[in-house]
Amino acid sequence: MFIPFIFKYYVFLHHYYTNHMKSRDTFTGKIGIVLATVGSAVGLGNIWRFPYEAGQNGGGAFIFIYLVCVLALGFPLVMAEFAVGYKAKANVVGSFKALAPNTPWYMVGLMGVSAGFLIMGFYFVVTGWTAEYFWQAVQGNLLHLSSEEYKIMFDSFIAHPIKPLVWTLIMIVLVHVVIINGIKNGIEKASKILMPTLFVLMLVLAIHSLLLPNAMEGVRFMFEPKFENITSEGVLTALGQAFFSLSLGMGCLITYASYFGKGINIPRIAFQVSFIDTMVAVIAGLVIFPAVFSFGMQPDEGTGLVFVMLPTVFEQMPFPIFWSSLFYLLLALAAFTSVISLHEVVTSYVSEEFSLSRKKAVSIVSGAVLVLAVLASLSLGASIHPIFGKSVFEWLDYISATILLPLGGVAVSIFVGWYLDKRILLDVLEQEGQFKFRFFKTYIFVLRYIAPVCILIVFLHNLFLA
Ligand code: PHE
Repeated sequence: MFIPFIFKYYVFLHHYYTNHMKSRDTFTGKIGIVLATVGSAVGLGNIWRFPYEAGQNGGGAFIFIYLVCVLALGFPLVMAEFAVGYKAKANVVGSFKALAPNTPWYMVGLMGVSAGFLIMGFYFVVTGWTAEYFWQAVQGNLLHLSSEEYKIMFDSFIAHPIKPLVWTLIMIVLVHVVIINGIKNGIEKASKILMPTLFVLMLVLAIHSLLLPNAMEGVRFMFEPKFENITSEGVLTALGQAFFSLSLGMGCLITYASYFGKGINIPRIAFQVSFIDTMVAVIAGLVIFPAVFSFGMQPDEGTGLVFVMLPTVFEQMPFPIFWSSLFYLLLALAAFTSVISLHEVVTSYVSEEFSLSRKKAVSIVSGAVLVLAVLASLSLGASIHPIFGKSVFEWLDYISATILLPLGGVAVSIFVGWYLDKRILLDVLEQEGQFKFRFFKTYIFVLRYIAPVCILIVFLHNLFLA
């Protein structure tokens, strides 16, 4: 009787100490929080994915719908994820277990971890491409080719069985090292240097693009909504893209908020992050579309847009090697701070839920993601054939961004809007009265009705049509 009791008590204490008492690593303060979260949000989603999706879905109308999605659904959900992580102080699965013990809500966490893992599968590959382009730019190889030649260069590189994989591996090793170093000394440090630099550089490039002949045609393409071009799939893509870009719907923001210290004005930080992320996407569009139209190209180039189009733009500038190297370096770094956050979601889950050391957890995640990334990369060449019309790479992107993230968004809005005690929520948002959050009632209404209903309508409409 007594022995099993002692043993149980010991197991309980052990679990409690490993999960709660080893004082959790945190960000150092507000600036660190904003920059690290912006580091997660701003990435390939803004500079690579947003422009090519806008280009493929008709420009202005897509961008308009995207902006509505960010403001009406994205921003409230960023706040909701922050509140969950801040309150629970645990990984994404642990957070749902802590706030809703003995319920199936933790499955939403599991869905998030899976989405994070799938996104990493293709995200690491593209991060590798950016590194290759940086390397080519530094050597002066991105000069004096025609746009057709740049296209051939890109297509043959991504289809190569070895070259992209070398870069993918290097990126996984680098992210591995940052994650081992934890929050303050790893993630926060990296973001504080990289993010401000990226922002300034993007502005300079946008101004340059806007000064090109015929640039206004690109601006018109971005801001003149032609709603007749928009399809229901375009709406779902815009929604998925808004979630992807804000790192929403998979617990990334829950995980980061679990490292926030006290006295943080969550609504304000959520707004700043959503705003900066959207600005970067729009500015990326202003870098790319004026140039596309100025050089008489098509905006629906797809995944190659940034890699095929931009070298032509840099050539027109003084010091092209300098500008193109800097751009691809920063693109790589933006991708890097995002893929760090994806890795952190899965690593914190593995480490906390299975009581493994951070080191062990990081290794397991890095190893597993390597396998997935190899499959994703090879699927762009001849070695792995498309499955039901899409490559493994495209499936990973589609299942995670277009299906799992919106579903995760619905789940979080229902969880925070209906399940979570409203006093707890208000206390977190106002930090026990330290700040005033005037829109609480409207906010709850959005979480309860607007967000889940809108997301589900878009989602089901598509599933039904597909
Ligand atoms: N938000 C990142 C980007 O735009 C991608 C990302 C998605 C990162 C989900 C973390 C979680 O590139």
